[in-house]
Amino acid sequence: MNFIRFQTLCEQGKAKGQRVFIRADLNVPQDDSGAITEDTRIRASLPCIRMALDAGAAVMVTSHLGRPVEGEFKPEDSLAPVAQRMAELLGPKYAPKGVPLLANWVDGVTVAPGQLVLLENCRLNKGEKKNNEELSRKMAALCDIFVHDAFGTAHRAEASTYGIAQYAKTACAGPLLAAEMDAISTALSNPKRPLVAIVGGSKVSSKLSILKTLASRVDQLIVGGGIANTFLLAAGKRIGDSLAEPEMVREAQQVMDLMRERGAEVPLPVDVVVADEVSSLARANRVSADQVGPHDRILDIGPKSAAQLAEIIAHAGTIVWNGPLGVFEYDQFAGGTKMLASAIAHSDAFSIAGGGDTLAAIAKFQITDQVGYISTGGGAFLEVLEGKTLPAFEILARRAQG
Ligand code: 3PG
Repeated sequence: MNFIRFQTLCEQGKAKGQRVFIRADLNVPQDDSGAITEDTRIRASLPCIRMALDAGAAVMVTSHLGRPVEGEFKPEDSLAPVAQRMAELLGPKYAPKGVPLLANWVDGVTVAPGQLVLLENCRLNKGEKKNNEELSRKMAALCDIFVHDAFGTAHRAEASTYGIAQYAKTACAGPLLAAEMDAISTALSNPKRPLVAIVGGSKVSSKLSILKTLASRVDQLIVGGGIANTFLLAAGKRIGDSLAEPEMVREAQQVMDLMRERGAEVPLPVDVVVADEVSSLARANRVSADQVGPHDRILDIGPKSAAQLAEIIAHAGTIVWNGPLGVFEYDQFAGGTKMLASAIAHSDAFSIAGGGDTLAAIAKFQITDQVGYISTGGGAFLEVLEGKTLPAFEILARRAQG
């Protein structure tokens, strides 16, 4: 995909003295007191900010936080905790006086080259969500270069993500968005084969379009969690009291047929770990996939199935991972996901992973450094897997054409 990279502009000296507007995704989780509980997205935004400051630009950064009502400021919608955390992470070299937070910024921002200012929650601006043209043009007028660096929001066409990119003098991709675009095209556009996708999670219905899209592209489609239970039902197995969607059995069958027609496969578990409840104290039993009792709940795959999947992963050329294989939060049901994580960590294949539960599993099994690329996007990553062209990719490609 062709798009202008902010890094290139900086290397060519084209950002020096320029007003640079960075749209980041600083939508981080907070506890009831407003304290940030997980700051990955803030950390991921720093390379772009440092790059802009090092290049001698006057730097404005904004993001949404949550889904506030436009025009109705409430203290909990403020980016103030983000400004503070960002200042701590940037340190005195880049944020000597902290990171100033500016409210009501749409009509004008004063910031000097080499300085950084954070612009208050952009979803407080009236017209943001509907990509209002007047708002978009005003934001575009604030800058010489618009940098989209918010992959987590790349599936939204809002004023600060799309409209501004239409009207800004220059619109380009920041290093985080560019890395996501590169990783996605490596994994999906021209992948090294075999391409193996792992899709876990509770419901087929919420991931049906992903499963169908992947079924037409991948060589092996590994399903996990409640999704695998529905596929087991479709294969005529008994699943007891397990989480599943009997009404989606036809769709699961279609996905398996699609794969089979292409000479590809959906490997189903041959053994499973069952219990009669989902809790940390539940007693886990390993049984064959043909011996699930009427009151059993399948909460993980068994060791034979995990070994089979590890074998598939070992021979993969490219791996796409979204969703765990079992209730990995409890150790007795974590074996399948742990084995999968370990197989990915030891594989030579290019791997890309994304989605909240997947990131939690990667952190739990400590394989962060061994995954080829970990996406910062939740909904955006899922839409990419569905085969959709994200609005951010579309507009940046269009602007790159001149
Ligand atoms: C996310 O958390 O997935 C992104 O920040 C997008 O947030 P949104 O779903 O509120 O647009």
